Amino acid sequence: MPGLSEGTRLESLTLGGAPFPVEIGEFWTAQQRQASRLHEVAYRACFKPQLPRFFIERLTDPGEVVYDPFSGRGTTYLEAALCGRVPWANDISPLSRILAAPRLEVPSSEEVDGRLAELPLQGRARAELDLSMFYHPDTESQLVLLRRYLLARREAGAEDGVDRWIRMVATNRLTGHSPGFFSVYSLPPNQAAKPQAQRRINERLKQEPPPRDVKAVIGKKSRNLMKDLSLDDRIRLKRIAAQARYLDGDARETSALEAGRVALVVTSPPFLDVVQYADDNWLRLWFNGLDAEAIAAKITMARTVAAWSGVMSGVFAELARLLRPGGHLVFEVGEVDRGRIRLEEAVVPLGLSAGLECGGILIHSQAFTKTANIWGVSNNARGTNTNRLVLFRKPGS
Ligand SMILES: C[S@@+](CC[C@H](N)C(=O)[O-])C[C@H]1O[C@@H](n2cnc3c(N)ncnc32)[C@H](O)[C@@H]1O
Repeated sequence: MPGLSEGTRLESLTLGGAPFPVEIGEFWTAQQRQASRLHEVAYRACFKPQLPRFFIERLTDPGEVVYDPFSGRGTTYLEAALCGRVPWANDISPLSRILAAPRLEVPSSEEVDGRLAELPLQGRARAELDLSMFYHPDTESQLVLLRRYLLARREAGAEDGVDRWIRMVATNRLTGHSPGFFSVYSLPPNQAAKPQAQRRINERLKQEPPPRDVKAVIGKKSRNLMKDLSLDDRIRLKRIAAQARYLDGDARETSALEAGRVALVVTSPPFLDVVQYADDNWLRLWFNGLDAEAIAAKITMARTVAAWSGVMSGVFAELARLLRPGGHLVFEVGEVDRGRIRLEEAVVPLGLSAGLECGGILIHSQAFTKTANIWGVSNNARGTNTNRLVLFRKPGS
């Protein structure tokens, strides 16, 4: 692993009496290679596309399988496809596939505009729950009618790629902090406020939900997502979509996936119980007719490192099964408790027990935090500008 990038600093960490290299540096930058706009779908605790790309380019060849068992918005999945690799993904929340899969089958903007023009969004409709703190009655009405249309198409088995695209974009536009969203000014789009919290935001800002044109918002965001996509990209993505896989089970039980096929895993698991994935996505789940409580009950929420390691050891066993000999696994763990809990140290023994070799730990640190003391990382208050990655390899060639 050492030498993945120039200008990095090497240290070492001793675990169980064995030394592991730790490489610290700025491995990829936003400027280095602009990521495709197609990634611009907000999701809690997502990583930047530059992260999977860095490893996909160095550790795989076109046509090989790249897998993410905790796919989220599908960053690894989409970047793998854009790089001509075969993407496999899994996430216990069905929202993940809703956000990720349609971006491999990108319709033309004419197809999206044509479908939007046909959508029956006139008339009056109210949601079965109170959404008045987020939406003007006219906006709510359009949203409820759009939701009904999409659910009916899905239930009838008539949903097509254009419907799925519109569903993905609408899910992404439900709440946010600009007129590009359906809601009044709210939290950032990756985290829906609870109704009570939104009422407080409205009181504090003395605001009321303004009317929005749902079709226009979807059309505009669609064009933005597609902006830098060439015809070649679309054709390549569609071809790869035919080989792509997307599961919505537990990362420990993916028996539908064939053993020994995966060349590279790039993934980021839930970090203990830091992010409330079902709560933060409650409105997105409602819009898609999904049961937030049932999903919350399945999502891994570990209070202690020991409980977390118990779940992750099952994940590592499954990943060791899926990797081909010589395949790599990049396991990203974020900051927990402002760096006081070092999950990477718990991860190394998990990989070794699953029969993988550990190449070391890589700490990607943005320039402005470079001077930080590495193990007691003193990040800024948001604590999201460092990626801590543990690298493994399955023995064999
Ligand atoms: C840190 S996020 C992944 C974000 C992703 N890297 C991205 O860029 O969007 C972790 C994901 O793990 C999912 N998850 C939680 N427990 C799971 C489990 N036991 N099996 C599979 N997925 C799970 C959550 O739904 C969440 O989407």
